[in-house]
Amino acid sequence: MLKKQLDLQETKTFLQDKGITNPEIGIVLGTGLGKLVNEIDIAHEIPYSEIPHFPQATVEFHSGKLIYGTLSGKKVLVMSGRFHVYEGYNLWEVTYGIRTLHALGIKTLLISNAAGAVNLNFKKGHLMVIEDHLNLQGSSPLAFKGSGELGDLFADMLEPYSKELNTKMKAIAKANDIDLKEGVYASVVGPQLETRAEYRMLQILEVDAVGMSTVPEVIVAKHLQLPCAAVSVLTDECDPKNLQPVNIEEIIEVAGKAEPKMITLFKELIKEI
Ligand code: HPA
Repeated sequence: MLKKQLDLQETKTFLQDKGITNPEIGIVLGTGLGKLVNEIDIAHEIPYSEIPHFPQATVEFHSGKLIYGTLSGKKVLVMSGRFHVYEGYNLWEVTYGIRTLHALGIKTLLISNAAGAVNLNFKKGHLMVIEDHLNLQGSSPLAFKGSGELGDLFADMLEPYSKELNTKMKAIAKANDIDLKEGVYASVVGPQLETRAEYRMLQILEVDAVGMSTVPEVIVAKHLQLPCAAVSVLTDECDPKNLQPVNIEEIIEVAGKAEPKMITLFKELIKEI
């Protein structure tokens, strides 16, 4: 067996022994979007630092724990805090949590993130359901020796985001008066934000939103044949003709303001899964 398989096995056994059994839905909470946790009837909460082989969270605003409990009547397993390449992790580490959730048995993956609006019809505070993506991280989380033994090596990207889940999400948004945009998300390494020239390039590429996460996670989900959906909170407007200084505190603040809408979307969607 590959060392990677053995590591995953150990992580899984550790978490099962802690009482995490049969989670139905996995959730990844992005920057400034941690409050969904308050809605969960929590059974177990395990800091990443205690989980064997789990990378350790470094950025202070990511609390870094796995939360298991009940939300909208379903067993959910939540990653509160995720890993990014810009923190110095490799793509195996960045996506280790997704492989862990899958190993524990989740059947659906829901992802959130904070992103910049490249489509200038979209505004700060809007939510956008991701319909397709561009991987601009320069590598793949599947590019390692033995990858094909853990899932589909040549995973197809025909429907990286489940049409069925997206359709449900759009109906929920409508019913709850949430102005949900839909579009293409591009994932870059960061951590620096983009130059004017890079924003112009992204516009030419017909990108609607840009961020530094999610795409590696979704690629691994497809490799593992795990249906997923992802929603971005648009935290700033990336207009190359009128570029404003953004700071991470402001991004977190805007994400926090949009958070109740995200919580409604996820809670209602989970009822229907
Ligand atoms: N780029 C620009 N703006 C952003 C990003 C990004 O990666 N993430 C959140 N806002």
